[in-house]
Amino acid sequence: METLKEERWQHDRDFFVRKAEMLGCEVLVQACNGNDEVQIAQAENMITQGVDILVVVPHNGKIASTIVDNAHKHGVRVIAYDRMIRDCNLDLYVSFDNERIGEMQAEYLVKKAPRGNYILIGGSPTDNNALLYHKGQMKILQPYIDSGFIKIIADQWAADWQPMEAMKHVENALTKEKNITAIVASNDGTASGAIQALQEQKLDGKVLVSGQDAELSACQRVIEGTQSMTVYKPLQLMAEAAAIAALQIIRNEVVSSALKIVSNGKKDIPSILIDPIVVDKTNMMETVVKDGYHSEKEIYIK
Ligand code: GAL
Repeated sequence: METLKEERWQHDRDFFVRKAEMLGCEVLVQACNGNDEVQIAQAENMITQGVDILVVVPHNGKIASTIVDNAHKHGVRVIAYDRMIRDCNLDLYVSFDNERIGEMQAEYLVKKAPRGNYILIGGSPTDNNALLYHKGQMKILQPYIDSGFIKIIADQWAADWQPMEAMKHVENALTKEKNITAIVASNDGTASGAIQALQEQKLDGKVLVSGQDAELSACQRVIEGTQSMTVYKPLQLMAEAAAIAALQIIRNEVVSSALKIVSNGKKDIPSILIDPIVVDKTNMMETVVKDGYHSEKEIYIK
């Protein structure tokens, strides 16, 4: 894994390990904390220890192709989990339709505010997902920009998805233009940084802000009104699908749930894509709470 910092990755790990163990597998988990060399070394180490398959959340979607090449030399196959590994003979991709997530974020904001000044906060530019979110967001925003209804005040990437980076970008944008209508933040972490910058100017709750991941703190902000929406990704479905697929690959069986194909630049990769869900105040109960992802008590603290 790249990191266990964002809350979601801890859920991913737990759901995956639980399912794989139920299936009779043993799972080793390591996180490289955003360091590509460490991630490559960890994978090599696991191969030396004799693992049957690697499930990788790459830090850098291009550099991680080394992991796949190395693994294949040793007859170990690789699943890219959540984030694509580019330009290699990857075996399987398990994720969401990430461009669609970007569209959902922008669609939500544009529906509430079809005119105004927008800021875009992308994620880590080395994460293929961040590029897809941005692509989806721009697909929705472009016609509004072209007709002069929406003006983009800033369009920045937050290195390594850091909330502090997002905060800095919004602070800078606010020195240029105080009248901001919406911030397209690509995940909840960057949304939290953006909202902190808004708070400094007493603008929190007055600017629309998107997010993604349904982190507990983000769900609380959605209810409180400082964040407009989040995208809830049913991680249990994804983690369990990945665990089942891993075992099928080890046994040389067909991965029955890989119904989609996504190109990684070199090859069409068999893919499992799970549907993401837009969450705001109106459907928090029937999505995040109903699934038991967070409890009503945790979210509705006030
Ligand atoms: C993305 C992932 C998001 C978010 C982000 C930061 O690749 O799809 O859910 O967690 O990384 O880790």
